[in-house]
Amino acid sequence: MLSDVIDLLADPVDGTPLRAGDAAWKTLVSESGHNYDVARQGYVTLAGGAGLRYSGDDAEMIQARETFLSGGHFAPFVEAITDHVGQALDDAGVADDAHPSIVEIGAGTGYYLSHTLDSIENSRGVGIDVSVPAAKRLASCHPNIGAVVADAWSRLPLRDGVVDAVTVIFAPRNAAEFARVLSTEGQVIVLTADAGHLAELREPLGIIDVEEGKVERMIAQASGHLVPVGDPESVEFQMNLDQASIAAQIGMSPSARHIHPTVLAERIAALPETMTVTARAAITRLRRDPHLS
Ligand SMILES: C[S@@+](CC[C@H](N)C(=O)[O-])C[C@H]1O[C@@H](n2cnc3c(N)ncnc32)[C@H](O)[C@@H]1O
Repeated sequence: MLSDVIDLLADPVDGTPLRAGDAAWKTLVSESGHNYDVARQGYVTLAGGAGLRYSGDDAEMIQARETFLSGGHFAPFVEAITDHVGQALDDAGVADDAHPSIVEIGAGTGYYLSHTLDSIENSRGVGIDVSVPAAKRLASCHPNIGAVVADAWSRLPLRDGVVDAVTVIFAPRNAAEFARVLSTEGQVIVLTADAGHLAELREPLGIIDVEEGKVERMIAQASGHLVPVGDPESVEFQMNLDQASIAAQIGMSPSARHIHPTVLAERIAALPETMTVTARAAITRLRRDPHLS
């Protein structure tokens, strides 16, 4: 709920702290007097003057994501993310009774953030996504999540130096803003798809592969704001997917927008009943560049 994380939230316009505007938490109000309505589903949209430039994943993509993830096919990814968040909090010396703060950017259905909060005692999380259908799920997926609609490429609606761990799973990365909101010892945990991810589906479905060197480029782009903690870790496993799961996997990805639904359905129908498909991604941990003030 937003009340669990209100001490982390800030006005997206000027960065001043937000607080409840009324006893029923129907609005949030900033120290500078800006008001933000809390939707009846429990999420709040925190966008600056220009509003939101993107709409993110639509309701169908979010539903496909929910369907696919609930099949447990990405369980090794969620386990690995939770482990790394735990290690990052240990590195930072964050005590459980300190109510560790975890922010997920592009949090989607909240699958990863919920799992992490369940595993880390007393933790609470902010799920940020630019998609309203995602925020509706985030608001109800876990009692300790505050759901926020915001654009990762704008000033994040978070106070300076208050976040113990930022997680980014197949979602946009704004290194300058991550460095601003992280606590001194806080870390960013990033999961990026690697070349070879879903390799067996690429040709038959006509979807493009992940380019080589993605992690190295991400680290280079973050330089000046964030530095890597150790080496990236590769997570690779095989999934047994039936045609419905393959349809859900493609439906939750950008490919869903690039291939006509009828063509995609025909291509999926031409696949074997079940297939072994490779999942491959890299987990990278980063912390604030020590040269930043
Ligand atoms: C590939 S999905 C990953 C979702 C989730 N992390 C997961 O793995 O289940 C990318 C998510 O980022 C969101 N997103 C895209 N652009 C964004 C932006 N500029 N700011 C915030 N969220 C964004 C999308 O709406 C979507 O939910």
